[in-house]
Amino acid sequence: MTTSSTHIAALLPATAKDLVLEKRQTPSPGAGEVLIRNHVIAINPVDWKRQTWGFRISAYPAVLGADVCGIVTDVGSSVTAFKPGDRVFSLAHSFCSGNNDHGAFQDYTVTNAAATGSLPKDISFQQGATLPTAVGTACMALFDVLDLPRPSIKKHASQVDSSSEPSPLSPTSILVWGGASSAGSMTIQIARLAGLTVFATASERHHAYLRSLGASVLVDYHSPTVVEDLIAAAERAGTQISHAVDTISAPQTLAPVVQILSRSTAANKKLAHTVGWPADLPKSDNIENQWVAADDLWERRQDLSVWLYNEAMPEWLEQGDIMPARYRVIDGGLSGLQGALDELKKGVSGEKLVVEV
Ligand SMILES: NC(=O)c1ccc[n+]([C@@H]2O[C@H](COP(=O)([O-])OP(=O)(O)OC[C@H]3O[C@@H](n4cnc5c(N)ncnc54)[C@H](OP(=O)(O)O)[C@@H]3O)[C@@H](O)[C@H]2O)c1
Repeated sequence: MTTSSTHIAALLPATAKDLVLEKRQTPSPGAGEVLIRNHVIAINPVDWKRQTWGFRISAYPAVLGADVCGIVTDVGSSVTAFKPGDRVFSLAHSFCSGNNDHGAFQDYTVTNAAATGSLPKDISFQQGATLPTAVGTACMALFDVLDLPRPSIKKHASQVDSSSEPSPLSPTSILVWGGASSAGSMTIQIARLAGLTVFATASERHHAYLRSLGASVLVDYHSPTVVEDLIAAAERAGTQISHAVDTISAPQTLAPVVQILSRSTAANKKLAHTVGWPADLPKSDNIENQWVAADDLWERRQDLSVWLYNEAMPEWLEQGDIMPARYRVIDGGLSGLQGALDELKKGVSGEKLVVEV
């Protein structure tokens, strides 16, 4: 597999400036790293936030971007799980390292082998690019912040014995607020694999799709009775919502989530939020709430990263247990990234924006 000595990157020259294309040296991977020739890159809200506010940028110019999918062209000395020619998806981490070699918005990216997954042959590069941040966020929410038990990798949905009674001590019902978001649709699917009953909110046009992914109850968050409707649905199902993931985490989403958990009689109520807690929103004493930090997958929770990307995701994708998000291609390759960032900043509904490079 040949690697070009230089490649094109989309660089952010300064806070709030547009991306510009420039040539960079193509790096070699370090010991536990892989070098990927990117074929498709996905855009995340954190990318436009970093561009707009200079958030988590240590020096300019900066290479943004977290989601890549392509072909391995080189591996570091300690990497045994991947070889040149492998089709992979990977979580890029310039966000954490501050190293532009680790940014997604370029032709070649160096990433951690521990945050890389083999892409089954039936999954396209476009689909693969939608995965890394979304599944990482879902897993950090479910298995780090909420500390729920992870599902067995081999025991996929069709083998789950639905007649078995859950342990009285294990939480079985979870609310996913913002089910149609990238993080939300992955949280629904992985929560289902973990054996939880999933209640979710989304615009009505996404209900059938999110049911097909494993949500048991869907309520439109635009409804003025959304809180009452979710509580009534839990009562009808004979369950209490004990855990919640708010993938949007705005004041208007966290307030109803707190209301629902407050009115639940479950013990040990927990809430994972993907954005910092709003300063003027009161917290509830009997709900444990914590911010999800997907970037902890690189160091503190590298064990979870290896389990998720190296082991679980390739199996789940192969078996059809996890469906990649719906996506829209923004034309123009690397030149299209700025338009994609602008588009995502305006807001999307139930789709991931990707560019092909
Ligand atoms: N802390 C972390 O580690 C971490 C990681 C990843 C993401 N995040 C953050 O999490 C947020 C979500 O990211 P994402 O990429 O998953 O978002 P996204 O896919 O861009 O979110 C779009 C979706 O948000 C839904 N939505 C908007 N307002 C809503 C509301 N009031 N109630 C329920 N759903 C609503 C829309 O649902 P409908 O289509 O149904 O209207 C839409 O489909 C972003 O702020 C991002 O920066 C944090």
